[in-house]
Amino acid sequence: MINPESLRAEFQTRYGREPRIFRAPGRVNLIGEHTDYNGGFVLPMAIEHDTFAAAAARDDRKIRVRSVNLDEAGEIDLNQPEKKMRGSWLDFVEGVARVLERENGKLRGADLLVASNVPTGAGLSSSAALEISVGLALTEISRLPLDKVRLALAGQAAEHEFVGARVGIMDQFISALGRKGHALLIDCRNLQAEQVPFAPKDAAIVICDSKVKHKLAASEYNTRRAECETAVEILREFLPDIEQLRDVSVADFEHYGEHLPETIRKRCRHVVMENERTLNVAEALRENNYTEFGRLMFLSHASLRDDYEVSCRELDLLVKIAGNCTGVLGARMTGGGFGGSTVNLVRRENLDEVIEKISFEYERQIRIKPSIYTSGAADGASEIIL
Ligand code: GLA
Repeated sequence: MINPESLRAEFQTRYGREPRIFRAPGRVNLIGEHTDYNGGFVLPMAIEHDTFAAAAARDDRKIRVRSVNLDEAGEIDLNQPEKKMRGSWLDFVEGVARVLERENGKLRGADLLVASNVPTGAGLSSSAALEISVGLALTEISRLPLDKVRLALAGQAAEHEFVGARVGIMDQFISALGRKGHALLIDCRNLQAEQVPFAPKDAAIVICDSKVKHKLAASEYNTRRAECETAVEILREFLPDIEQLRDVSVADFEHYGEHLPETIRKRCRHVVMENERTLNVAEALRENNYTEFGRLMFLSHASLRDDYEVSCRELDLLVKIAGNCTGVLGARMTGGGFGGSTVNLVRRENLDEVIEKISFEYERQIRIKPSIYTSGAADGASEIIL
């Protein structure tokens, strides 16, 4: 387990200087999947797993960065032309540095040591946590403090331009702006967000990492985005004012959905209904109605499986096993899909036996031991004062 104290000690040993330490969390999305890039609503919470970035300014324009987890290092010279899409973790670091410099002013060079407790490949946004922790560190040590929404946008731009992933804004936004004891209802069109209290006494969020990641994920993600854009183009003939699927109401879909080819119609139905469910879950949370929250989680999963077709056998199995456990109020895949994790809402009194049963049954059928975590809603990115 990595902690800021040991990171600080390692930084001192390696660079002979005192660093400042920043952190940014991973996230789990409670509901609102594949809605962000459609201008819709999402409801994630930050989790109690962080990426830490220890940083000290340099007098030149070099960023020397080392990853404790990977035991790898790299160097970026901000005075030299940018490098894109190396296919390694350095793309996130270089991407966020270059975008911040472009958007926010000239950065100082830096020595950076990064270390993370966010599981990678688990759909819990380890990349966003890296971008946001490094982005915060670089802007702070350069004395160019930045509004957190703009920091999130810089992380997203880094993904688009330097990693080649056309992600929405959800992961970076929650990593930057989460609040302990709250889920965040984000309107991904205008980037307005509402902190919705979420600290249930009798229930817990359980995250089950399937430990699989299918290769399809990246290409299918971009295909889904394109399918949503096609749906908007076709529907515009009937609804001239729409810009994104966010603008299509359930009633609109019921009226005009029949004009869409079958696959596009299914994608559209998922997004339209998921937006509606997300607003309904936010309302349920405001009323502490966890039964309703759970019910909508199961519906969300079925829609992602059958209409949006981004689930997989392992995620479906995790949800099915959970659905058969006493005390599970809701379960669904979370994040982009094709592997990664499920998110479950579980009554505390049944917590131990639920974790035990999911773990046992999944391993029995898939021959892989899942990783299972519980997490409260955590704070977004911050500096750690030791
Ligand atoms: C990934 C992306 C997000 C979002 C989800 C699906 O996590 O990074 O922007 O689109 O998939 O909801």
